[in-house]
Amino acid sequence: MAKPYRTSITTHVEGKPHVYGYGLVDIAGKASFSKTIYLILKGEMPDKNSEAMLDAILTISIDHGVEPASVVAARNIYSGGSPVQAAVAGGILALGEFHGGAIEQAMENFKKYEPLGVKRLVDDFVRRGERVSGFGHRLYDVDPRTQKLLELAHEYGFFGKYVKFALKVEEELSKGGKKLPLNIDGITAALLLEMDFNPKVGKGIFIIARTPGLVAHVVEEALREKPVRRLSEKDVEYDGPRPRK
Ligand SMILES: CC(C)(COP(=O)(O)OP(=O)(O)OC[C@H]1O[C@@H](n2cnc3c(N)ncnc32)[C@H](O)[C@@H]1OP(=O)(O)O)[C@@H](O)C(=O)NCCC(=O)NCCS
Repeated sequence: MAKPYRTSITTHVEGKPHVYGYGLVDIAGKASFSKTIYLILKGEMPDKNSEAMLDAILTISIDHGVEPASVVAARNIYSGGSPVQAAVAGGILALGEFHGGAIEQAMENFKKYEPLGVKRLVDDFVRRGERVSGFGHRLYDVDPRTQKLLELAHEYGFFGKYVKFALKVEEELSKGGKKLPLNIDGITAALLLEMDFNPKVGKGIFIIARTPGLVAHVVEEALREKPVRRLSEKDVEYDGPRPRK
């Protein structure tokens, strides 16, 4: 009878944990964390350039200030008296389609539309009135993280058809007037496709990258701040009814 769970990721061999055939106690001290992340997501060890590319993606996404929704959520949850794991999990829950959670959809879009062409993608999204995942940013006209990853993509040999396609989409979308730069989710999506990752890892890659940042913010909240954050009424615009009888 089939067993209730099956996995090709991990098992014990002679009492030691193995991931895709590599003993963790054997590779610890030799393989970097990024290399091991690549292994557990892809089932094989990366070559030097793939390891360096993934490492750059994870490094550049580790934090983006106190202001993003995920950090505000995590800090506020901790300040209410919930434990570290609840606050970090709450921060991760804020990583939705508009903030760090757009990689999977961007990968699907690039895969589908790269053979069809940029114009078809833009026409379809405009017709449906939808936003194109991986483009636009509240702060940037040019996302400096994207620029750095593009530079490294050249160096490591990942400036391929998906990266070129993403840049053409950026150009086409920005013709409308408002600049919609290829953002961190968009360039990450293109690079993960160049590295032959399945789109299903997209959301996970950003969670893996950003979780150390969320932990740091929650620990700082714990060590430096008073419990219970609360907005001041001065920061809230009330536009409901006046007092009624
Ligand atoms: C990231 C994001 C929320 C930033 O938004 P913003 O710069 O504050 O822009 P706004 O939400 O004010 O939108 C301004 C206009 O640009 C349009 N727009 C913004 N991003 C767009 C996109 N990716 N595709 C198409 N149109 C977009 C909006 O529809 C809006 O149009 P309107 O004025 O005709 O209503 C937005 O660009 C977005 O939703 N991007 C797609 C999701 C994504 O990539 N998320 C990951 C972010 S790292």
